[in-house]
Amino acid sequence: MDKILVHGGRRLRGSVRISGSKNSALPILAATLLTKEPCTITRVPDLSDIHYMLTILGELGCEVERASGMVQIRAEHVSTAAPYDIVRKMRASVCVLGPLLGRELEATVSLPGGCVIGDRPIDLHLRGFEALGATVRVAGGNVKVLAPKLRGARISLRSNFGSTVLGTGNVMMAAVLAEGETVIDGAAEEPEVVDLANFLNAMGAKIEGAGSRTITIQGVKELHGANHEVIPDRIEAGTFLVAGAISGDEVALQRIQPEHLRTVTEPLAEAGFEILSNGSQLTIRPGAQRRPLKISTMPYPGFPTDMQAQMCALLASTGGISVVTENVFPNRFMHVAELKRMGADIALQGPTAVITGVPKLSAAPVMASDLRASAALVLAGLQAEGVTEVNRVYHIDRGYESIDEKLNALGAQIERVKA
Ligand code: EPZ
Repeated sequence: MDKILVHGGRRLRGSVRISGSKNSALPILAATLLTKEPCTITRVPDLSDIHYMLTILGELGCEVERASGMVQIRAEHVSTAAPYDIVRKMRASVCVLGPLLGRELEATVSLPGGCVIGDRPIDLHLRGFEALGATVRVAGGNVKVLAPKLRGARISLRSNFGSTVLGTGNVMMAAVLAEGETVIDGAAEEPEVVDLANFLNAMGAKIEGAGSRTITIQGVKELHGANHEVIPDRIEAGTFLVAGAISGDEVALQRIQPEHLRTVTEPLAEAGFEILSNGSQLTIRPGAQRRPLKISTMPYPGFPTDMQAQMCALLASTGGISVVTENVFPNRFMHVAELKRMGADIALQGPTAVITGVPKLSAAPVMASDLRASAALVLAGLQAEGVTEVNRVYHIDRGYESIDEKLNALGAQIERVKA
């Protein structure tokens, strides 16, 4: 397994081009199952999770052509059972259920296992499919949904944790070809849900309200092919903003949508950093004084859970006491033990991390555990004395396109070591 060595103490300066959004591209690629006609998706990031999704679509019978950031897909003939050995590697493969059910009235996918950030149930997805007229059978680790026909319904996707992002997408994709009107209450409001709805509407769907708590869908007879450019990855962008906060003189992010990052730039400004917004560019530079923070992760438009680990890496060396509460995935603190190996002073109390800032972190061999925790460890290495060795780097390659190369272009010194 590859590892990366992060030489601490280098200052970052310059600009970085942000890639297309992984969490938008994944459901959009699945949505191409809803038409027999070809679709062209651009700004698709080169990530292992995207590779897994394209492999699943290929196994389902799609013709898939990829050329750098562009993917052409044609689902002329599809089977309805996604292969276990690929699905088990990526939970997001659950989002082929909705389009397969919508198009073929049947779909079988292996149940996504849990992962280090917590149990990853899909009860809300399945409740939505049942409301549309499907029956759900769970057997042998697979979930099978099938329906004689799909009829529009009123569906609530509210949960104790807010809503469900992929669940909202899955139910939308099952409902676009259903007969009649579907209303989703308690829908996720994330920009990735809006991007998916925009792509589905470009295919001929009739979806209104995406980005709000209530989405209304008028079923149509069929969908046609469409072309679509994926929105910028707001979590990659947020990760580079935190890199700039941790060790930047001045770092600019290119080709982003600043309004998607307000929930990250506001706390960073509160923490004492200067953030300048200019069209599709954001720049971060040090302010007069750094301040500790109290943040709680919430569904969009709250502070994103996918930025929680990265923010802990920043607050670990911010003077004073910060408090970070994780409301979406309460166990999502695998990075804390590793940050403590680097000298961080963090006390976990249930879903809350109390962080007492230390003047400097010190390098250590650390273990990546999930996508965002591994990014946090790289960020911690940027500021630590010495060379931090981050193991199991395959986690980071799932969601970040060439993060080491992009950071090195800003002045970092990161080496990838083939194990
Ligand atoms: C998406 O996962 C993202 N992944 C996650 O990003 C992100 O952390 C998450 O949304 C929250 O923003 C993709 O888009 C591929 P949820 P998703 O369903 O949709 C509970 C990353 O790092 N829940 O919104 O799977 C669930 O347990 C990844 O890029 C149910 O109870 O997350 C959690 O507590 C990690 N029942 C909360 O809702 C359900 O049926 C939010 O989960 C579904 C979810």
